[in-house]
Amino acid sequence: MVYKVLISDPLSEDGIQPLREAEGIDVTIDTGLTPDQLATKIAEFDALLVRSQTKVTRDIITNAKNLKIIGRAGVGVDNIDLDAATEHGIIVVNAPDGNTNSAAEHTIAMLMSLARKIPQAFYALKHQKWDRKSHVGVELKNKTLGVIGLGRIGAEVATRAKGQRMNVIAYDPFITAEKADKMGIDYGTVEDVVRQADFITVHTPLLKETKHLINKEAFDKMKNGVQIINCARGGIIDEDALYEAILNKKVAGAALDVFEEEPAVNHKLLELPEVIATPHLGASTVEAQENVAIDVSEDVVRFLTVGLARNP
Ligand code: NAD
Ligand code: MLT
Repeated sequence: MVYKVLISDPLSEDGIQPLREAEGIDVTIDTGLTPDQLATKIAEFDALLVRSQTKVTRDIITNAKNLKIIGRAGVGVDNIDLDAATEHGIIVVNAPDGNTNSAAEHTIAMLMSLARKIPQAFYALKHQKWDRKSHVGVELKNKTLGVIGLGRIGAEVATRAKGQRMNVIAYDPFITAEKADKMGIDYGTVEDVVRQADFITVHTPLLKETKHLINKEAFDKMKNGVQIINCARGGIIDEDALYEAILNKKVAGAALDVFEEEPAVNHKLLELPEVIATPHLGASTVEAQENVAIDVSEDVVRFLTVGLARNP
C-alpha cells in the first residue's frame, strides 16, 4: 500500500525529509495550483500539506475522496474549513510551536521599527532624501506594551519587551492572573489594556470572538498617539477603523504583517506614511520553516503508518 501525499504550498525541503524517508509514502509537490485544479487533483491523495496560501475550502474537501489528514505547517488553521474536514472524517494537524520564536522576533522587530520610524527613514534615504526632522522616534523604555493574547507568541513578546525595559500589561481570557504575575507583567481586562498601553500588539487566533476585537470603540478608548502592531491575523483589527484612527491622529503608527485579505497589494492602509508593513513574514525564517515542516511531516507519517496524529 502506498499513501500519496500532496504538498501544495512551498515548504522547507529539509523539513519534509520525514515524508521522503518513510516507506510506503509517495510525495508530490505542486505549488501553483488554482482552487479548481486542486479540487480535481486532490481526489487521488491521502494527505495534504499546506502553509497559508492554499485555501482548503469545503469544495476541495468534498472532492477529496481519499483524504485522511491535512497538515498545516504553521499555527493558524483559518485557511482550512474545519467543519467540512470534520464532516468528512479528515484529521487536521498544525505545528503550534515551530514558529513561535520567529514570530516573536518579528513582532519585536516591528515594534522597534515602528518606534524609530526605520522603514520610513530608509525609504526616504533610498530616494535621496536626508530627512532627519520627519523621523524623530520615541523610546520604548518605560512605555507600556499592551499584549492581547498571552499564548506562545504573546508570552515571548511580553518577556522580550521587558528586556527593553517596557512595562507590560496583558489580556487573555484563558490564562490566569498568576501566569502574568509569574512573568512579572500586569494583567487586566481588554479595556484596561487599550486604555493604558502606548503600544498594543495582538496575538490571538482569528475566531468569531476575536474578529474586529480592536474596533472603533476600542480605538476611542486608547491613548492619543498609541501605536499598533499586528503580527497575528488580519481581521483581529478592524482595518477601516484603524485607517480612520490614523487619519484622526488617535493612532500615531501601525506595523502590520497580516491583512484581512492577502496578498494585500494596493491596500489603503499602505498609502499612509504612519503604516509600516511586511507581507506575512512572521514565520519566514529558515529555522521556523524547517521546524513546522518537520512537525507536520512527522505527524502525517505517524498517522498514515501507525494511525495516531501525535504521540499520546
Ligand atoms: P496560541 O494559541 O499559543 O496563543 C493564542 C492566545 O490567544 C491563547 O493564549 C488564547 O487564550 C488567546 N485568546 C483566545 N481568544 C482570545 C480573546 N478573545 N482575547 C484575548 N486572547 C485570546 O497561539 P500563538 O502560537 O501564540 O499564535 C498567535 C497568533 O499568531 C495566531 O493567530 C497565529 O496564527 C499567528 N501567527 C502568525 C504568524 C505570522 O507569520 N505572522 C506566525 C505564527 C503565528
Ligand atoms: C502561522 O499561523 O503559523 C503563520 O501564518 C505562519 C505562516 O504559515 O506563514
